[in-house]
Amino acid sequence: MQRIVIVMPAYNEAENLKLMIPELFEKHFPEINGVDMHLLIVEDYSPDKSGELVTEFIKKYKNLHLLQKQKEGLGWAYIKGFQYAMDKLSADAVMEMDADFQHPPKFVKSMVEAYLKGADYCIGSRYVKGGSIPKEWAFFRKAISFLGNLFIRIVLVKPSIHDLTTGFRLTRVKGVMDKIDLNHLMEPTRFAYKVDLLYQSIKLSKKTVEVPLEFASRTKEKSKFNPKEMISTFKVAIILGIKDKQKFIKFGTVGFVGYLINAFFLNLFSKSGFPEWASWGLSTELAIINNFTWNNLWTFKTDEIKGIGNIVKKFLQFNFTSAGALLIQTILGTIGVYFLGPDKRQLILPFIIVFVVLPYNYLMYTKVIWKKK
Ligand code: GDD
Ligand code: MN
Repeated sequence: MQRIVIVMPAYNEAENLKLMIPELFEKHFPEINGVDMHLLIVEDYSPDKSGELVTEFIKKYKNLHLLQKQKEGLGWAYIKGFQYAMDKLSADAVMEMDADFQHPPKFVKSMVEAYLKGADYCIGSRYVKGGSIPKEWAFFRKAISFLGNLFIRIVLVKPSIHDLTTGFRLTRVKGVMDKIDLNHLMEPTRFAYKVDLLYQSIKLSKKTVEVPLEFASRTKEKSKFNPKEMISTFKVAIILGIKDKQKFIKFGTVGFVGYLINAFFLNLFSKSGFPEWASWGLSTELAIINNFTWNNLWTFKTDEIKGIGNIVKKFLQFNFTSAGALLIQTILGTIGVYFLGPDKRQLILPFIIVFVVLPYNYLMYTKVIWKKK
């Protein structure tokens, strides 16, 4: 039987836990058939004695567990909870869930069902059909939540996922959670750890699904989220976004410099009285030399080509793939002008470059010239 452990961090949540624990064990877990459901409360010795309350409940519910530790912020509470669930409780999947009823317990079932249907990573989503944020939230708060999410979606280029900051998620252990280096997540003392964890989980998961979540408003105690947490969340998203696209950004920069060199020398040579074909040929070759050199030393430095013999061989190959790009551009350009007319030439060129030549070059560089060993 699959064992799912809900990891629930709680700091000063005795009021909520008093209701949450019995509700899960008496109402919702019995409705989930064929799964061994466990609940792990991660508690930082809260002044309101949440820990003692949980200890009392453990006498009654055998699948309830308590992990107590020093207060180090939300990230560590979850991280240590996941580690405990995997190492001590042999979980097949872990769930992230808050103690304050903002993740209404009735949604646990739909998350588990999605997992049983084969999902490796289930995201409790407020921004898909059937999901929602509290109606009573002020317009400003709604806007911040939505725009913040949109910003992260754009930065991480994850348009297919609608809720990247939700705190309600289910992760398969084998192949996903057990492959993540939990001790080195970004910003583990903050809420922002969530973005790094999500980013890595999506990469590892073969099947990611969004399950609608009606995010409720808090009734007891107050939120620990604040502007500092928000800024660090955006920071993590930006760093991850850049890291992810680093190679592509460098490739684009080198290509652009190559274009400038091409244009500069074309102008210089033709003004110096070189024959037309020589101006084009020489300036293009200079751009090719530039692109090869900087891509080798910078863009693909982890797979750098070394040794004279190798460099010569690869450089010839590089000229060959560049000729391929030239051929593609010539053919498509001619066809484009034939159908759209010569006045559209200046529009056709960037279109071909962006949608055909750039992807072609990137593919050739990563799969042929600087192929990973
Ligand atoms: N053990 C422990 N230690 N628990 C903590 C700590 C901590 O330092 N800080 C917060 N918690 C617990 C709270 O007791 C609660 O159960 C849960 O973590 C979430 O804290 P809230 O303070 O209620 O956060 P929130 O409602 O503002 O934010 C939630 O929604 C956001 C999306 O709008 C969280 O789920 C965020 O992760 C999520 O981004
Ligand atoms: Mn909350």
